[in-house]
Amino acid sequence: MRKRILTGITTTGTPHIGNYLGAIKPALNLAGPDCDSYFFLADYHALIKQTNAELIKDSVKNVALAWLASGLDTNHSFFYRQSDIPEVHELTWILNCSAAKGLLNRAHAYKTITAENIENKDDEDKAINMGLFSYPILMAADILIFNASHVPVGPDQAQHLEMTRDIAGKFNHIYEEVFTLPEAIIQHEISVPGTDGKKMSKSYNNIIPFLCDEKTLQKSISKIITNSLEPGDPKDFTNCNLFNLYSLFADEQKINNLKEAYAKGIGWGDVKKQLFNLVNNEITPIRDKYFELSQKPNLLNDLFHEGANKVRPQAKELITKLRDIVGISEIG
Ligand code: TRP
Repeated sequence: MRKRILTGITTTGTPHIGNYLGAIKPALNLAGPDCDSYFFLADYHALIKQTNAELIKDSVKNVALAWLASGLDTNHSFFYRQSDIPEVHELTWILNCSAAKGLLNRAHAYKTITAENIENKDDEDKAINMGLFSYPILMAADILIFNASHVPVGPDQAQHLEMTRDIAGKFNHIYEEVFTLPEAIIQHEISVPGTDGKKMSKSYNNIIPFLCDEKTLQKSISKIITNSLEPGDPKDFTNCNLFNLYSLFADEQKINNLKEAYAKGIGWGDVKKQLFNLVNNEITPIRDKYFELSQKPNLLNDLFHEGANKVRPQAKELITKLRDIVGISEIG
């Protein structure tokens, strides 16, 4: 069977270099001519964490443009918004009715918050909405609605894929074999350090943006924290933030050259310059494309519309079949 690759991108925030290296680039590399690929914007998932409508809208726009600018080809893959496929919600309910609550109780994201609440002597479910609790079912529906065979995700999503397989398997067992059990393709986290050395994350305020002008990129690279060794002092490249970031973009030759330069006492300012040049070289075509695409007023709406038109018939077909299987169909 032809591989069917599917992945969703939650629309919270604007993608940064960590997202580009860890998710966008590897997922696009998987989408070859030998498979069907589905890339979608998980905007209903975003509502769980974000109640500001303007921020949701901005994020949908920026995440979509980031993927397109990074090379997502809408002629050779399906690109759509989760919210444009209402059948996903119908499937979510159908799955809700067979998925075990106990399974969802064990979700890491949910368990972490309840554990914190208990530790703080608060109500166990403080600040937990039903969206957060049922998140894995909506995610299972995203995947199963198109019977995806392979799902590239970060390691933090591995459990959700296990749950999807459980949920699908249980439904197949109760009714009949309708769902493909999807395989996770775990994109091993390359650890991308932020400007302070901790993992790059919006919540740590340490990101290096990639959809920004050159000056902003330069500025954020200049903010990367280093130790106080002077130019001329030999430096250690192990555990060095700047070096680690550089290695994510450089080939072996360049990495070796930089190691030598460290031993010879290159100044931090010069390392930053080299890092900037390297990142900027890779990012420039993407940035140019991003700015070009953001000038086209109806581009995204048109693409979303087209994408939904292409995939919705598949979703409708499955839902018709499922309705019949569960007994919600015309009375004979
Ligand atoms: N939960 C995923 C994340 O935060 C996003 C997502 C939603 C997803 N639905 C999906 C990923 C379906 C893969 C398949 O990264």
